[in-house]
Amino acid sequence: MAESSTNTARQPLPDGIVPAEVVARTEKRWILLMAGMLLIMMAVIIVTGIMGAMHPPSNVEVIDPTTLHLQGEFVESNLGTALEPNGSVTVRLIAEQYNFIPRCVQVPVGTAVKFRLTSADVVHGFLLPDTNVNTMVVPGFVAEVRTRFESIGETAMPCHEFCGPGHHAMWAHVRVVPKERFANVTFFQRTSCESQ
Ligand code: CUA
Repeated sequence: MAESSTNTARQPLPDGIVPAEVVARTEKRWILLMAGMLLIMMAVIIVTGIMGAMHPPSNVEVIDPTTLHLQGEFVESNLGTALEPNGSVTVRLIAEQYNFIPRCVQVPVGTAVKFRLTSADVVHGFLLPDTNVNTMVVPGFVAEVRTRFESIGETAMPCHEFCGPGHHAMWAHVRVVPKERFANVTFFQRTSCESQ
């Protein structure tokens, strides 16, 4: 047609620059390479997820964020590290702009630790580096994560969800202490990290 010969976009590409079979072979190689990379990345995600016991927080538990300080599990006297009858510990924290309450908690080494958190205002994050603990803290819900600390020391717990202009300064600490020492400190010391 006369029309197609004047429209350069409709003209066939000149043949012979790169042979069609070379193009097809190159494309096939790239597709295989991409598929291989995807498979490797999927395998890394699955293996690290299983080995590190990482999983999306699945605890769906609602709470009224406006009455946290008045009643229920997250009243001030109930925050911090509590020893359970079975020997495990439960740590209760409130996240708010721009603090965790309490700011430092003590936990015994080699013991099952359950963190229960909720937010008093906006969405915060809760992360313990080098552990499987990584969760969002959403107002109206209780986030629950379980872990175990195998070595003594102090770990920072940064808020990793942007929550406002003071987000970068929102930190707390967990101090992992020997079991005997944990048993001997008072409730106040467990929840404030005051030296004995
Ligand atoms: Cu709280 Cu960022």
